[in-house]
Amino acid sequence: MGLAHKSEEYIMYGNYLIPKGSYLLPSLWWFLNDPKEYPDPSEIAFGYGRRSCAGRFFADQSVYITVFQLLAAFDIRKAKDVHGNEIPVVLKAIPGMVNRSAPFEFKLEPRSQHHIELRRIESEQPPEISHASLFNVSTV
Ligand code: HEM
Repeated sequence: MGLAHKSEEYIMYGNYLIPKGSYLLPSLWWFLNDPKEYPDPSEIAFGYGRRSCAGRFFADQSVYITVFQLLAAFDIRKAKDVHGNEIPVVLKAIPGMVNRSAPFEFKLEPRSQHHIELRRIESEQPPEISHASLFNVSTV
């Protein structure tokens, strides 16, 4: 689902009259999976038109760097049962405002001793001091 939008005036759309002040809850999945408009919907997760996602570049880069760092540091495999057989991953969606996959078992291991060491090195580095207080400027 998308965010709620409110109509500021009466709108005629085809045979529909949308009264002023209506709340509109767009089904993003439905719109973005219309092959006439969006032949490759998985390319467009950030909505459409004037109210598309304001954080899309930040979000896209964040997802990329998170996935990239995980793959660089860990081997990710299917989990095994007590007999040593791989447990298949069944992709099941949880319904809701945001569609996401149901939890499943997996095995995540550092790729090497070197990658385990990275954890220690990171814990020895003091975190950089935030500059957030600089934004705390009072206006007159
Ligand atoms: C992968 C992560 C994200 C996805 C898939 C996503 C997706 C979307 C979508 C589909 C909309 C449109 C909703 C609608 O029209 O009803 C939206 C709106 C918006 N998003 Fe995101 N978003 C993400 C992350 C972010 C981040 C990180 C920020 C801020 C830093 C952000 C800020 C916003 C804002 C401010 C709007 C409202 C824009 C408006 O109504 O003018 N989003 N987002």
